[in-house]
Amino acid sequence: MNAPVAPTSVMPPGSVPPTAAELEQIAAIAHAEAGIVIASGKGSMVQSRLAKRLRALGMSDYGTYLDYVRSDDGREERQRMISQLTTNVSHFFRENHHFEIFRDKVLPDLAARAKSGGRVRLWSAGCSNGQEAYSMAMTLLEALPDAHQRDVKILASDIDPMVVARGRAAEYDAQTVSPVPEALRRKYLEPAGANYRLCAAARALVTFRELNLHAAWPMKGKFDAIFCRNVVIYFDPPAQAALWQRFAGALAPGGWLFVGHSERVPAGPGTPFDTAGITTYRLRGGNAT
Ligand SMILES: C[S@@+](CC[C@H](N)C(=O)[O-])C[C@H]1O[C@@H](n2cnc3c(N)ncnc32)[C@H](O)[C@@H]1O
Repeated sequence: MNAPVAPTSVMPPGSVPPTAAELEQIAAIAHAEAGIVIASGKGSMVQSRLAKRLRALGMSDYGTYLDYVRSDDGREERQRMISQLTTNVSHFFRENHHFEIFRDKVLPDLAARAKSGGRVRLWSAGCSNGQEAYSMAMTLLEALPDAHQRDVKILASDIDPMVVARGRAAEYDAQTVSPVPEALRRKYLEPAGANYRLCAAARALVTFRELNLHAAWPMKGKFDAIFCRNVVIYFDPPAQAALWQRFAGALAPGGWLFVGHSERVPAGPGTPFDTAGITTYRLRGGNAT
């Protein structure tokens, strides 16, 4: 026989899933704030991610929580809610073929430019805990060991302040650093208690910043390469299309755009991009070949 279900009023905060109407309202906020799409069947995913917020606030139901996040006082909580709803999975050297293209096709020109005093700007957009940006930094330091002393910068941005703080701390456990090739681990990771920390040169190359890809971008100069991987998969097609256009505007002619394995950028005639490898694109113009 099934155990009797306690009445809602005595259930612990967060243990009752949002109703369909509440889920719709949560999805509407996530879409408006971050462009994230939450399908109607995702009630238990939303509950598993938000239950601890309701518990922390001592709120028994999602209706009360929604009233709060929509209020002026709930601005910070709205941000926390978005953080909980984003998926932050990442790995060092994820989709390694991109780092091979970066090393073999992108970096030779950029390293030569940096050596002659030129400016190089790279962006990990939707950087999660920083593994992507530091994988870029290690690849860059292999090509140009004094990159951190030249006019070379990697911007690492994410909407979620918690992952931005973790990236800035640059400290990872042994399991997390295991995909870093041994030779790079020895050069660029230092023991930090039971963990590992990126070396000073790699840290100096990367600037972390909280940034919503759907809001205004304060950056002025153009980027030579943008990694935006496994981010737009959570956006709807119009939001994806708008982002590709904005990336086209943010890249220098001939600049590179890397996206996730299940993401596609329209490329070829009538678009600003050409395909340049697996889920790799190049903005037309400049010396692109
Ligand atoms: C699955 S992770 C991808 C991390 C990394 N790019 C990779 O491929 O390993 C997706 C990241 O996108 C971020 N994100 C989601 N919506 C965003 C938005 N509107 N603006 C900026 N970042 C966003 C999430 O917070 C999350 O850290």
